[in-house]
Amino acid sequence: MKIKIVVVFIILATRINANVRFVRVVFNGNAATEATIIWDQVEGEFNGFYMDTVDPSANRFVNRYPLSSSNKMRGMKNMIVRINDLIPNTIYYFLIRDSKGLSKLYHFRTAPNRPDIPLSFIGGGDSRDNRPVRIKANKLVPKLQVNAVLFNGDFIGLDVEKQWLEWFIDWENTIAADGRITPMMVTRGNHELSNKVVYKLFDVPNRRLYYSTTFGGDLLHIVSLNSEILKIGRQKLFLRIALAKHKDYKWQIAQYHRPVRAHVKEKKEMETQYKNFVPLFEKYKNLPLCLENDSHTCKVTWPIVSSKAEGSSEGFIRDDKNGIVYAGEGCWGAPLRAADDQKPWTRDAGAVNQFNWIFVSQEKIELRTVLYENEAEIPSLNYRERFSVPVGMKLFGPNNGTLVEILPKK
Ligand SMILES: [Fe+2]
Repeated sequence: MKIKIVVVFIILATRINANVRFVRVVFNGNAATEATIIWDQVEGEFNGFYMDTVDPSANRFVNRYPLSSSNKMRGMKNMIVRINDLIPNTIYYFLIRDSKGLSKLYHFRTAPNRPDIPLSFIGGGDSRDNRPVRIKANKLVPKLQVNAVLFNGDFIGLDVEKQWLEWFIDWENTIAADGRITPMMVTRGNHELSNKVVYKLFDVPNRRLYYSTTFGGDLLHIVSLNSEILKIGRQKLFLRIALAKHKDYKWQIAQYHRPVRAHVKEKKEMETQYKNFVPLFEKYKNLPLCLENDSHTCKVTWPIVSSKAEGSSEGFIRDDKNGIVYAGEGCWGAPLRAADDQKPWTRDAGAVNQFNWIFVSQEKIELRTVLYENEAEIPSLNYRERFSVPVGMKLFGPNNGTLVEILPKK
């Protein structure tokens, strides 16, 4: 009896004593079976990572995983555990043990590996250094129960230690009170001064930061590109091969930081992306959506194809049958800019703080633009409600409606 009490006391006493913070989960490959868990080891020695489909402490800590890698970047000691034998569509609980004790219990859900289970995502970027606003967006993340956040660059304004620490402190708001973490898939923006910083902080599987993740078996392939490096050569070759390899998937989505055609005048046109990325995107009937950021404004285009024909503008023309919808352009808290460069093929645009909320099923993709600033009034959805718009949520869509429905190209 005495021994039992002592054991219970030790377990309680060692709980939540681990000196770890900024715990994140990234999907960098097959989101149904692979996940990478990263945290900052503030001090003390790493002593074990335990993950299971139940609380690992209740299951006698049988599933222990080794540290895959660690690095120092921007004032943090980033500890990395890569796991590749996960069960699809399953909640995994994990604990980190260090020389001071155990961490709090965290959990996340792997993606399904079947195309008949719909998926949901939040897509956005440009959190920069406007903390009160970006915290509102962060607080809405756990409420929507999405499969992943697609975070497309410009995490910080200045790529220095202080701002990254503040970014991670604020990102803690995306973790639900019960320890539920929404996994991420990230790309680099121009405010991240090197590939290295994103590579090390998020364990991106390629040092040049172009890579792919799949969700839902052959339902969705997301290709993540790096708009801060050359668009020709190796990156173009990667894109060509990645899109061809997934040509029989139901859908492909591309994400990258800089928009091909910005909706803010002062931003330059990305001719290198127009010439090298767009023709490859357009080669595939299953790629109807590109997520863009950088401008600190909001836009959604009609489906468009590249064209120099009469009626085209800036190299694109509306084509409802074969076109690609380009959505995004910020703004996760960065200073807003007027959408003063709208095109004939712009569906709606305006200077509002927003992120995209995206549903993907075999039948269609639904995209909504969420005005997250009244986050406090928006209730949490439970997992079964994750495809219903909550009461109080404000959606962008001044002229052409709040729902952008994307059907397979003809
Ligand atoms: Fe940017």
